[in-house]
Order: sequence, then C-alpha cells, then structure tokens
Amino acid sequence: MLPTRVGITGLTACCLVLLSHCFAPTDAAYTCGTSQFRCGNGKCITSRWVCDGGDDCGDGTDELPAACEAKTCLPTEFSCGGPLNKCVSGTWHCDGKADCDNGADEKGCAAKNCTDNEFRCSNGQCIAVSFVCDKDNDCSDGSDETSCPTATCGPNAFQCNNTVCVPRLWACDGDADCADGSDEWPQNCGGRDTKPTTKPCGPHEFHCGSGECIHRSWSCDGGKDCQDNSDETNCSRPTCQPDEFQCNDGSCIHGSHQCDRQFDCRDLSDEMDCKSVDACEGPNNFRCKSGECITVDKVCNGKKDCRDMSDEPIRECGNNECLTNNGGCSHTCTDLKIGFNCSCPAGYSLGKDNRKCEDIDECADPDTCTQICVNILGSYKCECEEGYELDPKTKTCKAATGTVPYLLFTNRHEVRKMTLDRREYVPLIPRLKNVVALDMDMPGHKIFWSDLYHRKIYSADMNLAGNSSHHNVVIDSQMESPECLAVDWIHGNIYWTDSELQTISVATTDGTRRKTVISEGLEKPRSIVVDPANNFMYWTDWGNEAKIEKSGLNGADRVALVTDNIMWPNGITLDMVNQRLYWVDSKMHTLSSIGVNGEGRHTLIYNEDKLAHPLSLAVFEEKVFWTDMGDRAVMSANRLTGNDITVLAEDLMQPEDIIVYHNLKQPIGKNWCTEKNFVNGGCEFLCLPAPQINQHSPKYTCACPDHMTLGLDMRKCVAAPTTTAPSTTPKTAAPIPTRAPTKQPAGPTSTTTTTTTTTSSARRAQPQDPDRSSTTHSPQETAVTGQSGYVAMPKVAEASYHTVLYIVLPIMMMCLVLFGAVLLWRHWRLKNTNTIHFDNPVYQKTTEDELHICRNHSQDGYTYPQRQMVSLEEDLA
Ligand SMILES: *[C@@H]1O[C@H](CO)[C@@H](O)[C@H](O)[C@H]1NC(C)=O
Ligand SMILES: *[C@@H]1O[C@H](CO)[C@@H](O)[C@H](O)[C@H]1NC(C)=O
Ligand SMILES: *[C@@H]1O[C@H](CO)[C@@H](O)[C@H](O)[C@H]1NC(C)=O
Ligand SMILES: *[C@@H]1O[C@H](CO)[C@@H](O)[C@H](O)[C@H]1NC(C)=O
Ligand SMILES: *[C@@H]1O[C@H](CO)[C@@H](O)[C@H](O)[C@H]1NC(C)=O
Repeated sequence: MLPTRVGITGLTACCLVLLSHCFAPTDAAYTCGTSQFRCGNGKCITSRWVCDGGDDCGDGTDELPAACEAKTCLPTEFSCGGPLNKCVSGTWHCDGKADCDNGADEKGCAAKNCTDNEFRCSNGQCIAVSFVCDKDNDCSDGSDETSCPTATCGPNAFQCNNTVCVPRLWACDGDADCADGSDEWPQNCGGRDTKPTTKPCGPHEFHCGSGECIHRSWSCDGGKDCQDNSDETNCSRPTCQPDEFQCNDGSCIHGSHQCDRQFDCRDLSDEMDCKSVDACEGPNNFRCKSGECITVDKVCNGKKDCRDMSDEPIRECGNNECLTNNGGCSHTCTDLKIGFNCSCPAGYSLGKDNRKCEDIDECADPDTCTQICVNILGSYKCECEEGYELDPKTKTCKAATGTVPYLLFTNRHEVRKMTLDRREYVPLIPRLKNVVALDMDMPGHKIFWSDLYHRKIYSADMNLAGNSSHHNVVIDSQMESPECLAVDWIHGNIYWTDSELQTISVATTDGTRRKTVISEGLEKPRSIVVDPANNFMYWTDWGNEAKIEKSGLNGADRVALVTDNIMWPNGITLDMVNQRLYWVDSKMHTLSSIGVNGEGRHTLIYNEDKLAHPLSLAVFEEKVFWTDMGDRAVMSANRLTGNDITVLAEDLMQPEDIIVYHNLKQPIGKNWCTEKNFVNGGCEFLCLPAPQINQHSPKYTCACPDHMTLGLDMRKCVAAPTTTAPSTTPKTAAPIPTRAPTKQPAGPTSTTTTTTTTTSSARRAQPQDPDRSSTTHSPQETAVTGQSGYVAMPKVAEASYHTVLYIVLPIMMMCLVLFGAVLLWRHWRLKNTNTIHFDNPVYQKTTEDELHICRNHSQDGYTYPQRQMVSLEEDLA
C-alpha cells in the first residue's frame, strides 16, 4: 500500500500547488517593471505599446496626448513627430518607402546621387549607363530611350537588326542572342541555316515552334504554353454537347457544374454571373412556413398574410424575448418581430448554440500577419522576429537590420541588380551567354549561377562578379539542363535540378565532391529550394504527374506535398521565418502558398495577364516578387493579400530566376559536420545534413560518390557491388514518394513524427536556437510514439496497482474539477474586467515581451496586475 499512499500525498500536494497558483501572493500588486507603462487602471503594458494607435490599457490611458508626449525614441530610431510621436527604425529614414503615417521619414531626403557609371532618369532613378539606348525601357518613365543616336557597334560586336550590339562570337552560333533573333538569320550567317538542332520531344509531348517541348494535352487547350503560341494555332474550338457548359477557354464541363459554387473551368468562368436564386433573402423579406415570401412589415400586423398564418404567431408577436435573461445571449440580443437573435462584437463569432460569442482565432489563417501572430480575446496582435520591426504604416514586419535589400534576377545575358524601391538598377554580371539559375551564399559573400548554353555552374565573389576573370567554374560535366540551383549556406553545398537527366544533385560549393541525391521518380524536375536550418529541400516537377516534393538534404524521408490542382509548377521559394512555401504555376496562372508539412494551402493570385508564364519567385518582408517570361517582366505583390501587383522591370529579354539579396534571408546556423573538431563529420566523402524530423534525428549522414556505397562504418566509401545499379539515395531514403500527410516512416529506427501545433502557427522553427525549438516536443510524446508504443512504467504489483487506481483516480478527478472550476471562474472574471476593444491593434516584440509572454502563460502579451487576484481573495473571504 505504500505506493498508494505516496501517490495520494503526491497528488494532494500537486493539487495544492495548482490551487495556490491561482491565489498567488499579492506583494507585487501595482508595481510595473522599468520597461513598462502603468495604465490609469493599474494595468502594466510594455512601453512599446504606448501611443501605438491601439488602446492596450483598456481605458485608453496609453493613447492620451500626455502619454504620447512622454514617449521618446531611442538614438537609433527616427521620430515621426506629430501628435502620435511614433518611432521607427533609423535605417528606414530616407529608404524610399514611407513608414511614418505622416510620411515624415521620407521628407526632406537629399536626392540620391547617381555614380559615374549610372544614368539619371528624369524621375530620379539611377540606372546603368549600359541600359541607356538599349531599346528597353529601364527607367520607369522611359527617359533612357529618348534621344538616342543611331548606334554603331565596335569591331568585335555584331549589330542586331534592332541596332543592339552583341559580341560577334555570339552571332551564328545556333543560339538567338538578339531579341529579334537576327544574329542567327541566314542572311547574316553567309546563308547558313544555324537553326539549332533541337532535341526531339518525347512521344507524349508537343514540339513548340519556338523549340520547347510541352505536354501534348496542352496543345489546343485554350492556354498559350509555347513561347510563340504555336500550341494554339490551327486549333478548332471543341463543340460542347448540349448538356455541357463551355468555359471561356473553350473547354467543356458538365452542365450541372455551372454555378455549383465550385470552380470547374480552369479560367473559373463556370462560377461567373451566377445569380442568387433565392429571392426571399435579405432583412426586408420573410418566408412563410408554407413557402410564400412576404415583406417583413406584414409580419405581426394582426392580419393573416401567410396561408398558414405563420406570420402571426400569437405568443411571439409583441413579446421581447431579450428582456428575460438577455434571451440567453452572451452579448447583444436583438428582438425581432418573431423571435430574436444574438450577435457578437467585432472579433467574436456566434458559437454553435447561436447564443454564446466565441473568440475568433484570427491567427488560424497563416496570412493574418507577416510573421508571428498572437491571438487575444476579441482581437490579435502581430509580432516580428528578431531583425525585423513592425512598420507602423503597413502593420507588416520590415527588416530593421542588415544590408540594403536588392533583387537579383537573370535576364539571359546578364544578372541584374535592383533596389526594392527601384531607385537603383544596374547589371551585376554582364556578358553571359544564357544564364538561367541563380542563388547566393550570403555568409560566404558569393553568388552562384548556371548557364544553360555552356551547361556549367559558376560562382563568384559578390564584389568581383562583374569581372569575368574572377568567375569560377563549379560544375562543368555530366550536366544537361541545370535549370535551377539552391545554395545550402550553412553546410557549404549546392543543389541543382537537371530536367534532362531527371536528377537532383549535390556538390560542395567548390565542386570537388558531388553526388546524385535523387534519381528515381523524377520526370521534369525544375525549381528547388533548401532549408539548411531544418535540413529539408523542396522541389517542383512538371512531369505528367506534376507535384511538389520534399525530402531531407541527404535525400532521405521523401514525401510529396502537392499532387492535385498543379500543372506547371515552375518556381518555388521558402519563407524561412514562417515555414511556408510559395510557388507559381505557369499553366494555371496562379501563385500559391502551403505550409512545409502540406497544411493550409492558399491560392493568393490567379491572373492570366500578370502570371502569363511565371518562372521563378522570391519572398521578403510582406512582398512576393516573380519573373514572368510571357510579360518579360519582374513583378511584385503583397504576399498576404495578393493585392498591389506592381511591375518593377519590363521589356526584359528573358527573365528567369530571381532572389532577394539580404542577410536576413540566410540566417546563420550550426554546421554539425564541422562541430567538435570533426573534419567533414568523419565522412570520407560528403557530409550531408539529415532532416530534423524530431530532436532525436541524426544531424547528418555520410554519402559517397555515385559509383560507390557506404562501408560498414557508414563513413568510408567502398565500391558498389556490381549487381546493383549505382546507388543514388542513402539507405534510409524512402524510394517511392508518399503523399502527405500519410507519411511513411523513413527507416527502421525512426520514430513517428510528432507534430506539436502551438497557437497560431506563431512558434516557428528557430534555426539559431536548437534548444528553443526542441522544447516544443514534450518527452512524453516521444516516449509514447516510440516505434513499439511501449511506455516504461515502474513495476507495480497487480493488486496494489488497482487500489492505486480506485483511490487515486477519484481524488485526481476531484482535484481537476475543482481546479477547472477555479480556472473557469477566473477566466470569466478576466473576460468581464478586461474588455478589449481595438480596431487594429498592433504589437511590437522585444525580447523582454517574449519572455514575459512565456512566463505568464498568457497569449495576449499583457501583464495583468495582481489586482484581480486580490479581488478574488476578497470575494472569497
Ligand atoms: C550629392 O552630391 C552633392 C554634390 O556633390 C552633395 O552635396 C550631396 O550631399 C550628395 N547627396 C547625397 C545623398 O549623397
Ligand atoms: C529590320 O529592321 C528594320 C529597321 O528597323 C525594319 O524595317 C525591318 O522590318 C526589320 N526586319 C525584320 C525582318 O524584322
Ligand atoms: C497551320 O496551318 C497552316 C496551313 O494549313 C500551315 O501552313 C501551318 O504550318 C500550320 N501551323 C502550325 C503551327 O501547325
Ligand atoms: C439579428 O438581427 C439583426 C436585426 O434584424 C440583424 O441585423 C442581424 O444580422 C441578425 N443577426 C444574425 C446573427 O442573424
Ligand atoms: C579583372 O580582374 C583581373 C585580375 O584581377 C584584372 O587584371 C583586370 O584588370 C580586371 N578587369 C577589370 C575590367 O576590372
């Protein structure tokens, strides 16, 4: 019986501790911390919320003019002045984007001086001298193409029919380099036909006049898929059956799908012009139980208007149900002519019983805030990760530290660089042959690109990239079509896709060691992005079964994330902070997002004009940027709403890849391969990061070149047995992709993934701090989900075990009920003493805020004064 008694004592103690937590001592009442502000009602809020335009105290005292005047900005901050006296990061002063409500941070800024190599557009932009008179509008106002003399090319240049000069070497090489293709015209090549011998397309493919191969089913489907539109010429529009509906793009769907509130046509035309059939809707109409529709003023007018007299119920006409017990409504009760209804204040919605108002969890929508979302009763606040601050004007997180952000994008012959405000626009790497893919290594200060003509991957130091004698060849063999590449900046590797070899490969950034990581189940792999903090990679494949897949950076634990409603996924990018993927589909003309585990898929933009043929995209702050080959432009939009579509650069030749150059895009992380003075993690060849599925996951696995396999020690490489094909994936890899979320266990030793959902998707993986992220998994969970499901228990004899159950369980239940009741009551008290009404509350995070959120276990970021607890005791007394 001893264990039983110990158990009871323990439980009682536990119970007491829990209860005493609620009746905490009250010494600290009415004292606010040094970085806190004391409200008129005694509440303490963080000083950063003072005068931020939202009533955080509940009595408005934090927004009074006196409180605003007392607020001072830090030396590193810029004061917006005016009545609100807001503070913004000093680096935002004169950055071309108004952050103060009154725009004070962009007033009186000296005009940007262009350098010697730059041309000043009439609107103040600085563009490279080489962009002037190149037949493209590079200034947004076109002032670089007015008053151009007739161009003459140097001796080593060829003049295109449109007067642009290209290196003479590029003429007649079978590759069109002039925008009009005139460098390959027979009359300019001594009568030779230099048309490239295009590779034949597969049996299920259509050969575009412009050379590409697309899926055969895409020809004559109403959408332009070839660059020259040859897939839609000589098509006869199909005639639909009499019981079918013809979509605007010509395709036929069954007639019953029109106006069924689901999109069936690719162009969504089946749900256009649908009229609500029920004409009896609206507050001025009343539907009788017998079916007729009458106007509401005929209800309860003492006359029978409905056939069944359901408009004159004697008991309900003239009876105000709201007078008794508020009709049972928790908030607003509205008396109607017949009956009543309940309604809720903003931020609340009616529960299932149509009586009680429940808080709306705004944070359930991942697009509510740019970064962290904190749900509070009746409202929410947005927080920012370290390095970002909340912009008071746009209410989004904006980088407050680090380098000036740049867009870098490829344009066939150049890698171009543009500030986000478009004030500076210059070539970064000129005179390339056919650059398509691009990525950077921010800590290493390097840029990587692939050239489809030379079939090579190059790298260069950011500062020396303009000088071709500083370009290094990283990979120059066994490569056919390197259409996309991604740099793992933590472990120093590059990954690339090859659509012709149908592989994904990895190599060290110097190119000395390489390996094919994925070679099975790929058809037309295209875009790839890596997350070296959690050691996953994500790629798109536009084969017959188009999909987005995910695997560890070592090829293990492969899973398909998106397999339906996807056709031509050309570009993918990762928002590291929010752990969300964004992709563009050139066939569906959409820009979509999804969580890295396949949750919460959204289509942000559907636009056949602005997403005519998108190829690549990048996200930063609240924006998404993409390149479009159909429009030959670089565009941006708000990544939460899909609105504000803006053209940043147009008249481009062939924009393909795009990245945002900023150090917050590539946070520093830990490289386990070089920890503890280990050289290359003890691996003989490659040390590849392993996917961090839970905190027990290995940090890396060793890998060998394609013709070798790992030896018994799993570190050295031995010749592969001759009977098997070259091993391409590590042993732990699941060869056949499985659909998310039905995840296939990666290997015999792995445990099932435990997904801990915390509020509001607010807690994101923290690459910089492994300890913090590991706290999201409780030890019990992993113990229970171990492969055999066995949970270690102290050995207790059968009988006493039962006694324990009989005695302890009721006590435990009583404790829980009591505790729950107290909690409920407390909750009710809080709810009734702290009415929160903000229109647009915002929240700026500091480290101390975050600490105190954790300490209080309160979701709303408030320090509640101990007063409520005092009153609680008083009430009890
Ligand atoms: C631009 O140049 C002028 C003259 O050299 C100088 O007075 C001014 O401070 C410069 N402006 C900026 C923003 O550097
Ligand atoms: C070449 O340029 C001239 C002058 O701009 C133009 O008239 C002609 O149509 C162009 N030729 C072709 C084949 O585009
Ligand atoms: C379209 O038909 C015309 C005439 O039949 C033919 O000359 C042309 O080559 C066809 N174009 C394509 C893209 O098939
Ligand atoms: C309740 O009735 C009022 C007045 O007719 C109306 O404005 C409101 O929308 C109704 N609310 C609900 C939840 O039906
Ligand atoms: C490019 O770099 C080489 C080697 O450092 C140097 O000799 C050359 O002058 C540079 N060219 C330019 C245009 O700066």
